[in-house]
Amino acid sequence: MSTEIEYRAAREEDLPAMRMVQGLAVRDLAARQGIDPATIPLDDQPTPPMRYLLRSGPGLSWVAVRAGRIAGFSQGFVRGGLWFLSNLFVDPQDQHGGTGAMLLQKCLRAGLRRGARIRAVASSPELAAQALYARAGMVPRFPLFVLSGPAEALRALPPPRASTVEPALSGEWIEALGALDEYVWGMRRDRDHRFARRELKLAAVAIGSAQDLAGYAYYCPEQIGPLCARTPRVQLQLLRAAGDALAHCGATRVRLTVPGLNAAVLIALLNGGFRIAFSNLFMASRLIGRFDRYVPSGGTLL
Ligand SMILES: CC(C)(COP(=O)(O)OP(=O)(O)OC[C@H]1O[C@@H](n2cnc3c(N)ncnc32)[C@H](O)[C@@H]1OP(=O)(O)O)[C@@H](O)C(=O)NCCC(=O)NCCS
Repeated sequence: MSTEIEYRAAREEDLPAMRMVQGLAVRDLAARQGIDPATIPLDDQPTPPMRYLLRSGPGLSWVAVRAGRIAGFSQGFVRGGLWFLSNLFVDPQDQHGGTGAMLLQKCLRAGLRRGARIRAVASSPELAAQALYARAGMVPRFPLFVLSGPAEALRALPPPRASTVEPALSGEWIEALGALDEYVWGMRRDRDHRFARRELKLAAVAIGSAQDLAGYAYYCPEQIGPLCARTPRVQLQLLRAAGDALAHCGATRVRLTVPGLNAAVLIALLNGGFRIAFSNLFMASRLIGRFDRYVPSGGTLL
């Protein structure tokens, strides 16, 4: 059996095997951290973001193939001047052989060719990953705390001061969301709004109007984010609005990924009984945006 590894652009039919490799790698990491691996899902059903990244970012999804078997993969996206690494996973039986480094470089080079100048990633606690990212010019900027807690606690937060509305996917709203993203997140990401609404079918709430937008938040019964606000304080009003909506659909516990420098949300949620489930690390070649008023959807689409 050949032990040579071949690197090529990922294809649609690779997605189930990529998903399996992701599950195996995360289970292995969990076991090394003393977490029961059985709590990590292991299946070959590609997640909607994996499929979306493959379809929407040609050249930014890579696989490593050993003797016809997917041994690892990387995926990223480019928005404006930002290249973001969404996924990097190597099958545990293929780790420690330079595969992760090569997959990272393939994806990064594709991003640089597309004009990106800033590089960033939400790293797992895997030290090999953090070392690879630092060597590729991305250094730790802030922790990303994954908080879990009672949806009901959000209803104790201050109510919105202006009217709330469900943002539409009209040109006018996409323009307004994009302008706020540029101010808070650092770049526009219009296609991600369409993906969140049309494919993920997330609910959304905004404070203000398309002419005067104070903030927006996406939510579903298990999770809130991305949440983006013109000021840190408006975030609490958005969380209250999402909490009220979630109460009506019977949600009990919700999860949020909170940047460590987002004092308003971090302090309010911890005081409201939320617990830190685990912590990832935002690593970047330089700081972007204003993450003191932003709650990402997670580590894949930021
Ligand atoms: C992260 C991951 C993809 C790396 O894959 P890999 O194929 O083992 O990586 P490589 O062999 O190319 O490189 C790892 C490098 O980290 C280095 N490294 C490992 N532990 C280290 C440490 N504690 N300090 C410094 N460097 C370290 C290794 O020495 C190696 O560099 P070298 O080849 O120059 O010696 C793999 O470990 C994985 O899938 N982990 C679980 C999933 C995960 O956490 N992914 C990251 C998501 S953000």
